[in-house]
Amino acid sequence: MQKKYFINTYGCQMNVHESEKLAGILLSRGYSEANTLEDADIVVFNTCCVRETAEQRVLGNLGIVKKLKETKRNLKVAVCGCMAQKNGSAEALKKRCPFIDIIFGTHNIHKFGEFLDKMNAGEKFQCEILQTEGEIVEGVPIYRTSGVNAWVNISYGCNNFCSYCIVPYVRGRERSRCESQIIDDVHSLLDDGYKEITLLGQNVNSYGNDAKGQEGYGDFADLINAIGEKVKGEYRLRFMSSHPKDLTERLVKAVANNKNCCHSIHLPLQSGSTKVLKEMNRKYSREDYEAKVELIRKYMPDCAITTDVMVGFPGETDEDYNQTMEVMEKVNFASAFMFVYSPREGTPAARRIDQIDAEVSKQRIMEMVAKQNERTANHSKTYEGKIVTLLCEDYDDKKQMYMGRDEYGRMGYFEANENKIGQFITIKVTKTV
Ligand code: SAM
Ligand code: SF4
Ligand code: F3S
Repeated sequence: MQKKYFINTYGCQMNVHESEKLAGILLSRGYSEANTLEDADIVVFNTCCVRETAEQRVLGNLGIVKKLKETKRNLKVAVCGCMAQKNGSAEALKKRCPFIDIIFGTHNIHKFGEFLDKMNAGEKFQCEILQTEGEIVEGVPIYRTSGVNAWVNISYGCNNFCSYCIVPYVRGRERSRCESQIIDDVHSLLDDGYKEITLLGQNVNSYGNDAKGQEGYGDFADLINAIGEKVKGEYRLRFMSSHPKDLTERLVKAVANNKNCCHSIHLPLQSGSTKVLKEMNRKYSREDYEAKVELIRKYMPDCAITTDVMVGFPGETDEDYNQTMEVMEKVNFASAFMFVYSPREGTPAARRIDQIDAEVSKQRIMEMVAKQNERTANHSKTYEGKIVTLLCEDYDDKKQMYMGRDEYGRMGYFEANENKIGQFITIKVTKTV
């Protein structure tokens, strides 16, 4: 009988896309997708460790699988991703969960097929965590699950070492894929019917820096221009994430001039206090950030700017926090991911003695979320009576309506008598919530 797999994904879009690669490898080995965890012969945990809560979720779900394994003795368990890659984590995971069959990290995901083969040939336990990233491996099969959107990696790793962040330690140094490979991917995905392409990198704006002067690589503005010239048709182009320090006028112009590029930029602020930003090693000040926002609005006045921001970074005073709130108000972000700082072992910020009291962070995040929710709702209100073009993504059974997003990332619902998934639909907004 055909064996089935179930993948748990915990992290960012990068991780979600890597789960598509894990699924591609499983399918190439004859597995099929299970609808539920209980139905699976192998459960894969593609983990994240960016915040403690992400790790706790992994451990909680491993506990569920442990119970399941008591009644389903042949159930196999594989753990991979950023948490597995973390220094000393593989040993700790095996000790805590001796029922795990395979552990591997972020640098050898392409070897998952080999691990599966060995496991199925009877090998009891395999653990391989590579310390260095090695070359980019192309040609890993991908089973896409992201509907009308397709993710395309343009770079891997990160060189920025923001002082709070674990990512550079578990993802290695920045490595860019060459332009022609990216463009080939975009072409073939559009041929396959995808209508939206999202270019992925921890910092897309520094794309190509690691390969400066090498043939086949330009910078990110060159890449956006090249896609604009070489890939024609009706589709949307998005990218994430943009580090403000590397956002240049040339890049903003390239985005504005590319008719497929959505006027939507995710530009993580992290903090509105120049003092905190310096301690975070972000390499921009509050004024620099605000100037980048001005630059975007100069060329794309309609651009939806979204952000990541955190409260409770070590030493953050009320004044620092208020400055973050001021910048959020001034920029008027279309939406924001808001986090409480989580100390990550091995990072400089975690070693600081001036960690913020959990209660103080809680008050700050609650206030911040409430204010941003108001702002997001106000953005929605401006839509009343507007004509918008949605890319239809799915059908909502509960609402009995089709749903789709506009270029600014806002979700809209509409009725239709026939299947509209994958189509661009222009509608008039009659109601906002
Ligand atoms: N590379 C992207 C960037 O710089 O914007 C995003 C990386 S990270 C996966 C996504 C977000 O998680 C960050 O923008 C930051 O706000 C948040 N984050 C990272 N480390 C964190 C930590 N230790 N505690 C809380 N939030 C954190
Ligand atoms: Fe982390 Fe900073 Fe790199 Fe983003 S840019 S992944 S926040 S180190
Ligand atoms: Fe992403 Fe989490 Fe790793 S946010 S890069 S999966 S630590």
